Amino acid sequence: MADDKHKRYTVTAALPYTNGPVHIGHLAGVYVPADIYVRYLRSRGKDVVFICGSDEHGVPITLKAKKEGVTPQQVVDKYHRIIGDSFRDFGVSFNIYHRTSSQTHHETAAGFFKNLYDKGVFTEEVTEQYFDEKANQFLADRYITGTCPNCGNENAYGDQCEKCGTSLSPTELINPKSTLSGDKPVLKATRNWFLPLDKMQPQVEAYIDSHKEWRPTVFGQCKSWLNGGLQARAMTRDLDWGVHVPVEGADGKVLYVWFDAPIGYISATKDLFNAQLSQPKKEEYYFNEPLKPEGAWEDYWKSDDTKLVHFIGKDNIVFHCIIFPAMLMAHGEYTLADNVPANEFLNLEGDKISTSRNWAVWLHEYLADFPGKQDVLRYVLTATAPETKDNDFTWKDFQARNNNELVAIFGNFINRVLVLSHKYFDGKVLMGSAFTETDREVLTEMGIYPEKISSSLEHYRFREALGEFMNLARLGNKYLADMEPWKLIKTDEERVKTILNVGLQISANLAILAQPFLPFSADRLFGMLNLESVDWDRAGESDLIGVGHQLNEASLLFEKIEDAAIEAQIQKLMDTKTANELVTAPVTESKPDISFEQFAEMDVRVGTILTAEKVAKTKKLLKLTIDTGIDQRTVVSGIAEYFDPENIIGKQVSILVNLAPREIKGILSQGMILMAENSDGKLSFVAPAENLANGSVVR
Ligand code: MF3
Ligand code: ZN
Repeated sequence: MADDKHKRYTVTAALPYTNGPVHIGHLAGVYVPADIYVRYLRSRGKDVVFICGSDEHGVPITLKAKKEGVTPQQVVDKYHRIIGDSFRDFGVSFNIYHRTSSQTHHETAAGFFKNLYDKGVFTEEVTEQYFDEKANQFLADRYITGTCPNCGNENAYGDQCEKCGTSLSPTELINPKSTLSGDKPVLKATRNWFLPLDKMQPQVEAYIDSHKEWRPTVFGQCKSWLNGGLQARAMTRDLDWGVHVPVEGADGKVLYVWFDAPIGYISATKDLFNAQLSQPKKEEYYFNEPLKPEGAWEDYWKSDDTKLVHFIGKDNIVFHCIIFPAMLMAHGEYTLADNVPANEFLNLEGDKISTSRNWAVWLHEYLADFPGKQDVLRYVLTATAPETKDNDFTWKDFQARNNNELVAIFGNFINRVLVLSHKYFDGKVLMGSAFTETDREVLTEMGIYPEKISSSLEHYRFREALGEFMNLARLGNKYLADMEPWKLIKTDEERVKTILNVGLQISANLAILAQPFLPFSADRLFGMLNLESVDWDRAGESDLIGVGHQLNEASLLFEKIEDAAIEAQIQKLMDTKTANELVTAPVTESKPDISFEQFAEMDVRVGTILTAEKVAKTKKLLKLTIDTGIDQRTVVSGIAEYFDPENIIGKQVSILVNLAPREIKGILSQGMILMAENSDGKLSFVAPAENLANGSVVR
């Protein structure tokens, strides 16, 4: 590899908040590219640790706990399992998947804070912060909402407006409101510790300026923060869920979640190496990679020949490129990130992915709905990765990429080579007549791919790398189609031996190069070729499988995904949309007040539908006969689109009996049935909750 400055790699993937499961947006933005990068490094024999874990502090978790009437610990325990299991089953090869509620983390984060505190890094400031008198609590971050001073969004949070993306502090909100009591909060003085980013600006700026090679989106965002002038930021909060501030006079205060969370990478690395010694906490952490790296945790964090890379989504840029590096600089012993390949966002079917609106494809549900198809999702999310701009995931595209690319190109090529090898030569690798000009050209072209793909991967261009991988599969596919061994077999068996030999060398190369992207399929392919997995550095060679080698049975690498499976997923999303509309539909304003006398003039009774039939030549109207207790009368009602006549006979209803009679379509309608109607016109009867005598009064 071009990069020999570095002896080892520390690769981190953003710690997911443990207040919900992981979805395809997280995967495309962070975990799939990080896993590709790490698997690539490992297959080159590099020394690498791949670190992740659950981010278990922060207000979203306490709010979720409150909403569900459980403790924050119960919330994080539940989602730590769901997330950890789904990453493991999806094949994200973390060396360790840790958690920030662990003792190791509390000690590490508190120790880090104490180190900076003792060095006099923090400034201590007493400021007025919002306080909820009813809940007897300070309102940090998401405990408070109000109107965004920037865009007027009425539901902006104390730390950020999700509409315009501005980061806020609670005191900037217009009309602030406590999320706990709904009350208007009061200001109350409190002491907190601030990281003086303003004073650190020159160092931070020098660091960013030394990384002009970063993605333009990342570098640009850093520069715009710097140009706006960094401001001191509070690193402590008046909350009770989190890492307690380890200094005197800090009772009832915890570390700011963005102070503790990135230190989680360090805590995790510590336990990875601890675990090598004594295997503690096996039940709490996940170790998805069987091979343990060598050395001590400090090698991976405090050594100049270690390359640190953070994989994150774009909403995390400031924290990983400015605040965390500033913390590490203030500490003094740590290596800074060499790159932070942040991705833009992935949308779903044209709409922003949202945990609260349940607009997402959840990883654990995907794994249940598409068993054994981890690589298909990895493929699609890489092929459409939001590396330079936001992108859209659609189920139709997912199906098309599976059927037209994985099945029709890669899978088809492998299948033809293996099936023909078994059919003609009992699965033996042979060599017949000498290579032709075309054979040599194809093998030479094949030899160029590993370098191309490596270069793309080392520059974090995963989409491009995958495209090149598929081009090699296309090359193989075209070679077979042009050579037509299935025709030649009748006339020139020696030539067919050579063609299949070339095809098998390409297949073995594809197996090597597939490892980072499609690890499950790569393993299966190595199995079919009867090869131990081969290192990346041998890719490009055209004698990976020797003459006389015996192949294993072939099976399909990929299967077509049928319309029904895709339609079921689309239906699931439609159902979510309907459910969301029911809760979020705008409610119309109330009409002007009326007097009690005006209300009392209405005579509403309980009645029973005796007959119902459609009014001819209309779409909406039903003619009903109602027993009102007073009489039996005819009512014409506009409910035919929602109710079949035969299904409503015998139903009790509320009927306004003193509405002046009107003629509708030639029928005299005497009264009106009361219906409830939502904003998209869905109707429901307003009826007594239990049957009552006809004629009972409704008021
Ligand atoms: N939990 C954060 C998020 O989901 C990411 C934390 S990354 C870490 O946006 F560095 F702080 F750990
Ligand atoms: Zn805003």
